[in-house]
Parts: sequence; structure tokens; C-alpha cells
Amino acid sequence: MKHEQIKDYYGKVLHGSDDLQTNACCTDTDLPDYIKSALSKVHDEVMARYYGCGLVNPAELKGMRILDLGAGSGRDCYVLSQLVGEDGEVVGVDMTEEQLDVANRHIDYHAEKFGYGASNVRFLKGYIERLDDLDLEDNSFDLIVSNCVINLSPDKQAVLEQAYRLLKPGGEIYFSDVYAGRRIPSHLAEDPVLYGECLSGAFYWHDFVTTAKAAGFLDPRLVEDRPLTIDNPEIEQKVGHIGFYSATYRLFKLLNLDPQCEDYGQAVIYKGTIDHHPHSYLLDKHHLIETGKVFPVCRNTWQMLHDTRLARHFDFIGDDSTHYGVFEGCGTTLPFDTTGGSDESGGGCC
Ligand SMILES: C[S@@+](CC[C@H](N)C(=O)[O-])C[C@H]1O[C@@H](n2cnc3c(N)ncnc32)[C@H](O)[C@@H]1O
Repeated sequence: MKHEQIKDYYGKVLHGSDDLQTNACCTDTDLPDYIKSALSKVHDEVMARYYGCGLVNPAELKGMRILDLGAGSGRDCYVLSQLVGEDGEVVGVDMTEEQLDVANRHIDYHAEKFGYGASNVRFLKGYIERLDDLDLEDNSFDLIVSNCVINLSPDKQAVLEQAYRLLKPGGEIYFSDVYAGRRIPSHLAEDPVLYGECLSGAFYWHDFVTTAKAAGFLDPRLVEDRPLTIDNPEIEQKVGHIGFYSATYRLFKLLNLDPQCEDYGQAVIYKGTIDHHPHSYLLDKHHLIETGKVFPVCRNTWQMLHDTRLARHFDFIGDDSTHYGVFEGCGTTLPFDTTGGSDESGGGCC
């Protein structure tokens, strides 16, 4: 699908969340109170033009520099603006003029509402496949987020490569998107409504993992996932048995990750010190790390905690001087839980 058609959909066809024809977008799950409080401070016009598929809400954001790919009217940027604090910075990129107009119109409103002397948010017009057209430095962002956008890109590999380039070592892209349980046939991919509704451009999950690895993100971690119901009989008829899922992945830019999870006899202990996470920290769907408990990890997980902004919240046991073979508990399970629940039982890996 061409950029112009997508711009048309988000700039001219849709005027607000109520115009969407399916519920693929706008499917926020239960949100913690501090996020609800941050959302309550976002301007009504920005909220009305929200088309995401789940709030992007990584922990430990104070002082971070964050880039939002496909920021739309800026809802997530204005939430993140509060979470990074006045010393942090949030940059939103989008290609659709009408969405950027809404986002830009309320910059001063939000700075004042959050009690900031100057806004820590700015929006840039551009394509997420061509971030090198914008004046953004390599290795300069702690985090890149995105909410229901990459499925719309005609060149998803370029988006991930650009993200990799812009992230600092130890940084991560943490993003929610729509995925498909199978590769989408081309006649559906060319349907402007199916595409605009974030369905028929969706990555088949296995292709996503392959593409992410090719872009340099060697060990993609699934944080949560949920099957999507479409709730539109005409569109359900068109897509047939293709299952769609909303999922959040985190991809760390770490240079020395193993292609598989390897056991070096290492373990971590979570100190319980990340704001809003006193009892446990959820690294990903298979790693709910309880406070104070010795938690065995593979070398990749160790690096995700040790070589990133999360390090000061953990004690680290062991080193990687001796290899003990494959990390026990690693499996080849499907990333999506088709019953709709998130496995927070902890332990294991991948
Ligand atoms: C489904 S909306 C999500 C917007 C926003 N993240 C939110 O949660 O409300 C998709 C947004 O991505 C933007 N977009 C889609 N493809 C893009 C691309 N290739 N480059 C830049 N922006 C893009 C659209 O303009 C639109 O604002």
C-alpha cells in the first residue's frame, strides 16, 4: 500500500476513533492507575484522534530520550512526556499532516499542564522508513516506541534498521502492533480499508522475528499479546481464518547476544526498586522476576538487564566464563497465546 493512501485514510477518511470500522485499533487493556492519571491530563482533541492498539508503557523512563514512530495526534508522546520528566525528551514522527496539526496544536497546553518551563516534546514530519531524512543522530535514543504503525509500513525491514541505527547501545524498541497468524494474500493486502484498519499489512509473526533479527535485534522478546476480534461481519468474511493479534515486543540493541538462549550458570535478583513495580519486574512474557528471589537467567537475559538502563535495579550473580549448554526451559512455543491470557508464571526462557 502506498504512503499516500495511508495518509488519506488517517488524514481524511478518519476524523476520530469512532470512525474506525474494526476494533483492531483502540484496544487498550487494563491500565495501571499512574498511567490513567497521565492519560487524564492529555487534551481531549488528542485523545479523540488516538488510533493505537495498546498503550506502550515500558518501565524506568525518568530522564530518557524517546522517539515515537507514527506518533499520530501525540497521545503516547504526551503520556511519555510526563513519565520521562522535564529532563527527558520525546520526539514524535508522523507523515500525516492532519494528525501532526492536532499534535502540534497542544504542545504549550501540555507543557503548562505538566508544570514544565518548556515543552520536552516535539513532532517531526517524516517517514519512518526514511528517518535519515530527519536531523536525528545515530545512537542517540534510549528508547523507541511505536503504537500500531509498523504494520502500515510498506518496508518494515527499513523501519527496524532505522530504529537500530538511532538507538544507543543497550537501548530498545518497545512497541505494540498487529500481527497475523499467517501470511496475508495479496488481494487482501491491496484492500485499502483492511490495510488502513491495521489488518492486512500485518506481519506474519514468524516473518517479523526473521526481519527483526536481520535488522540486528537478535533476540526479540514478546511482552504481551492478545487475539483481536474484528467485530465487523463484512471484514470477518473477507479475512476468513486468518487470526490477528495485538502484541507488544521489545527488541534490545545489544551486540553480543547469542542466537539461542545459553546457560552460563548466571542469575539475577530484582531489588524491587523500579517505580510502580515493587513486587516484581516483567521483562517479557516468560520472565516475571519477583523481588528478592534468585532468578536463573540465560546469558541473553542477563545482558538485557545488565547492559541496559535496568542494571541498577538488579544484583547479578555469576559471569559468563563457563558454558553449561542450552538454557533449560527454552522452548519453541508459539509466541501468541490463542486463549487470550498472558502467562505471568515466570521462570523459563523464550
Ligand atoms: C494507527 S495510527 C496510530 C497513531 C498513534 N501511534 C496512536 O496511537 O494514535 C497510524 C499512524 O501512523 C502514521 N504512519 C503510518 N505509516 C507511516 C509511515 N510510513 N511513516 C510515518 N508515519 C506513518 C499514520 O499517519 C498514522 O498517524
